[in-house]
Amino acid sequence: MRPGQIHESLNPLKWLIGTWKSVSAKGAYPTISPFTYCEEISFESIGQPMLNYTSKSWHPEKGNPMHLESGYLRIFPGSKISFMVAHNFGLTTLEEGTVQGNTVQLKSKQISRMTHAKEPAVTEVQRDYKLNENGQLEMVMCMATSKTPMTEHLRVIYEKFVQ
Ligand code: HEM
Repeated sequence: MRPGQIHESLNPLKWLIGTWKSVSAKGAYPTISPFTYCEEISFESIGQPMLNYTSKSWHPEKGNPMHLESGYLRIFPGSKISFMVAHNFGLTTLEEGTVQGNTVQLKSKQISRMTHAKEPAVTEVQRDYKLNENGQLEMVMCMATSKTPMTEHLRVIYEKFVQ
């Protein structure tokens, strides 16, 4: 392991590398009540041509863990990226897209879920990351389920606290 080393193929994604903490994290969906949460995400380079990803979220008042994710973000020639993510509620998503300047746009290509995972099933995911003019990372996640068409679920602003 060589933390901090950055493979040259990752140059287009350099702005995403680091540990980010939410300063605003909002969730909503037509089937649930709107909510807020706290989240810490990390895109870490250990010298390989990919970023190692983790996300931990927790309840803003009670502090109990909520949604957890971990995975790998790989980059291919032509700024094409693939993001493979395992979610703690029994889902894996393979999301693909591109990095263009200070934006990353991803759409699910495959989703699998544990047989007894909670309903409704997620059928599609889209997430967009953008480095804004204040150096904050913005993320919007939309999803479709077996009951609801593509609708926004999460909107987060993060600030970097570890390079
Ligand atoms: C890609 C990531 C995520 C996916 C695919 C996902 C998926 C879902 C789905 C399918 C539902 C049920 C919606 C329905 O009943 O119609 C849901 C509900 C919910 N999600 Fe997410 N979610 C994600 C991330 C998060 C995050 C980061 C949080 C915040 C900590 C969160 C918090 C909630 C809450 C509080 C509910 C309502 C309670 C519940 O039904 O369990 N989700 N999510």
